[in-house]
Amino acid sequence: MQVLVVASQKGGVGKTTIAGHLGVMAESLDCGPVALVDTDPQASLAQWWNQRQVDTPLFAALDIAQLQSHIKKLAKAGIKLTIIDTPPAVTATIRTVIGVADLVLIPTRPSPHDLRAVGSTIDLAEEAGKRLVFVINGAAQRARITGEVAIALSQHGTVAPVTLYQRTDFAASMTDGRTVQELDPKSRSATEVAELWKYVNTQLGKVAKNSR
Ligand SMILES: Nc1ncnc2c1ncn2[C@@H]1O[C@H](COP(=O)(O)OP(=O)(O)OP(=O)(O)O)[C@@H](O)[C@H]1O
Ligand SMILES: [Mg+2]
Repeated sequence: MQVLVVASQKGGVGKTTIAGHLGVMAESLDCGPVALVDTDPQASLAQWWNQRQVDTPLFAALDIAQLQSHIKKLAKAGIKLTIIDTPPAVTATIRTVIGVADLVLIPTRPSPHDLRAVGSTIDLAEEAGKRLVFVINGAAQRARITGEVAIALSQHGTVAPVTLYQRTDFAASMTDGRTVQELDPKSRSATEVAELWKYVNTQLGKVAKNSR
């Protein structure tokens, strides 16, 4: 089993949106069984999951104080991929969760504020010696700042070659427990998620190869 942690100390960058979307995408492309874990007291991912009509990906409620042993249990139960959503700002929780990560995915909005705030999350991943990947989320079409932010981020790690644009269906689909691909698999946003998953999956594959 591999563990993908979606983390950023900055709030509202798309952690929960991306965790849910990648979980559904990975499951639909036979990379599962996938377990989703929500370590944010706001419980946005859990609330979204509770509204789902289907029970995959499955949701694992776990106690952060026993994270290591719970992760082992998920692996033993045959889960192939666990995706963990994290809270903003709560450094201790984020640090603990990053500790069990195979890969840390850091969503960042293309803005100077987000760029300034991302350093502390990078530090947490680097401290733990974890591979990290940035993904730019909520970009405006044809905005120059997207490229500028990508260049700035690339000084600190790999930037996913896929940008998630600002699209209302990312929010709308999640209001009733779905994702953009479940709303319309042919939508642009669904294509973006599929491409992001493909990239993340390749990165997870590299981590697995290096740990053999
Ligand atoms: N690409 C996008 N296009 C449009 N809306 C988006 C996009 N990504 C996220 N959103 C919306 O932005 C808001 C914040 O996203 P989300 O809750 O996923 O961020 P978060 O990082 O988990 O926030 P928090 O730090 O509070 O947990 C939500 O309302 C979500 O629907
Ligand atoms: Mg969230």
